[in-house]
Amino acid sequence: ANKLGSKKERTLALIKPDVVTKMGDVIDLIYSSSLIVTKAKMTTLTWSQAADFYVEHQSKPFFNNLVQFASSGPVVAMELMGDEAVSTWRRLLGPADSAAARKEAPQSIRAQFGTDVVKNVGHGSESLSAAARELEFFFPSTIGHGPPNTATFTDC
Ligand code: TYD
Repeated sequence: ANKLGSKKERTLALIKPDVVTKMGDVIDLIYSSSLIVTKAKMTTLTWSQAADFYVEHQSKPFFNNLVQFASSGPVVAMELMGDEAVSTWRRLLGPADSAAARKEAPQSIRAQFGTDVVKNVGHGSESLSAAARELEFFFPSTIGHGPPNTATFTDC
């Protein structure tokens, strides 16, 4: 925590294939929140990359569906930074099931733009440790091919 008592965190936000053509609407809502976008990348995951990303759900009955959907088209991965970014972003998204979100959290992003529990607009890391793993997945710190991830935002 800094001297004002806030806990600046970074989290991984994913805009899923169902709304990638309306990413501006989602990003507008991020800009209206206390979070800022500190990294961004559009990419299309292979089935196997999506399975790696969602490894924590590999024993769930919906795993195949989830991986199939996540690899069905382009996604936009973002690093978001702000006070309690992990929980703040998940609260902005709302409940996983978009229909439930419309009842329980009508202002949430999933309530506004989601279809159901699969086409549900976005992903947000569940914990700080998940965020660290998922940020490294999309924005690896090691040197690879192509432009490196050298854009940096200092804690403000
Ligand atoms: P979950 O961790 O419950 O939600 P969140 O995305 O809010 O962390 O589930 C992860 C993803 O798995 C969810 O975004 C969509 C998918 N999923 C299904 O496809 N079917 C389901 O019944 C559930 C619960 C999740």
